[in-house]
Amino acid sequence: MISEVMNETINININRVTNSRINQLREGEVIFGRLFSDHMFTADYENGVWSNLEVRPYGDLQLEPSCLVFHYGQAIFEGMKAYKSENGEVLLFRPFKNIERFNTSAKRMCMPEIPTDIFYEGLRELLNLDKEWIPSEDGHSLYIRPFMIATDEYLGVKPSEKYKFMIITSPVGQYYGKPVKVKVETKYSRAASGGTGYAKAAGNYAGALYPAKLAQEEGYDQLIWTDAKEHKYIEESGTMNVMFVIGNKLITPAVSETTLDGVTRSSVLTLAKDFGYEVEERAISVNEVIEAIQIGTLKEAFGTGTAATIAKISLINNEGIDYNLPEINSDSLSNKLLSSLGDIRRGKAEDIHNWVSRI
Ligand code: COI
Repeated sequence: MISEVMNETINININRVTNSRINQLREGEVIFGRLFSDHMFTADYENGVWSNLEVRPYGDLQLEPSCLVFHYGQAIFEGMKAYKSENGEVLLFRPFKNIERFNTSAKRMCMPEIPTDIFYEGLRELLNLDKEWIPSEDGHSLYIRPFMIATDEYLGVKPSEKYKFMIITSPVGQYYGKPVKVKVETKYSRAASGGTGYAKAAGNYAGALYPAKLAQEEGYDQLIWTDAKEHKYIEESGTMNVMFVIGNKLITPAVSETTLDGVTRSSVLTLAKDFGYEVEERAISVNEVIEAIQIGTLKEAFGTGTAATIAKISLINNEGIDYNLPEINSDSLSNKLLSSLGDIRRGKAEDIHNWVSRI
């Protein structure tokens, strides 16, 4: 298959499945990230060149156990979603933001950047083949997981000379079934100044598992991460950016070297401004949030991310005290954002910001 994109000719070998597994997809019963579509896209990097571009049946990889990724964690990923419009078109939401961020992560992890046209064209071919896997139900989509791993067979600690880039996809519904209870983390850190917090590096997620598990054992769903130096300022929540509606303002930590520059985050801030909210991107302390809960000015708190879109927060625990957040109603900003984002992503609302790409 030869496709023209951005004036370049990309050769992608297409190897279709002989038997589709689409009958395993039961709409309404999908569990996040458990079922994978029929095909995947793969590309290899060696000697400064990307080659072996292929869409092939989803399945096992053959890798030597000495591959660097298994030892030193040179691995990055992205999260994106594809939607089906009412007339059956395949729509992507701001895909070039994810490609750009993928390459920011690659740079930080000493990995090669993937040319935008290889990434986008590989994804396009993959979705063309697997479009039946995109659920059409409201709140459902095809989650797209692009990732890159270091494949040099070598145990010395150094950047790999070989890499594999892949895209797999998984039909998904809601990530969180109900509003989440979060605990402010004041011992462990997700990211520190000079570290890899702004990159979507696999190791960032591995390091967060243990503190999150401790909080889950205490009955909380996720953590609110605070700055590594003083544990005073809020950074993120779980695997998401975090936002607070205080009075008529939407307040969120500014993007920094310790926080991820979320695509959903930036979209939500734009929509909130469209709705007439004042938006502040700045340092926000735990104390400011707790005081706002106590005096009744905090109306809502929620996480934003590709997987969850908007995860409403029902309770915040700080220093052993549980603070319940006000009930959300249909006029709440989080609900307005959810329905507006949903409509734009499905092509049901006018795309005034030019966020939607048609495959
Ligand atoms: C996403 O929202 O896509 C994320 O990266 C979260 C994921 C780790 C489930």
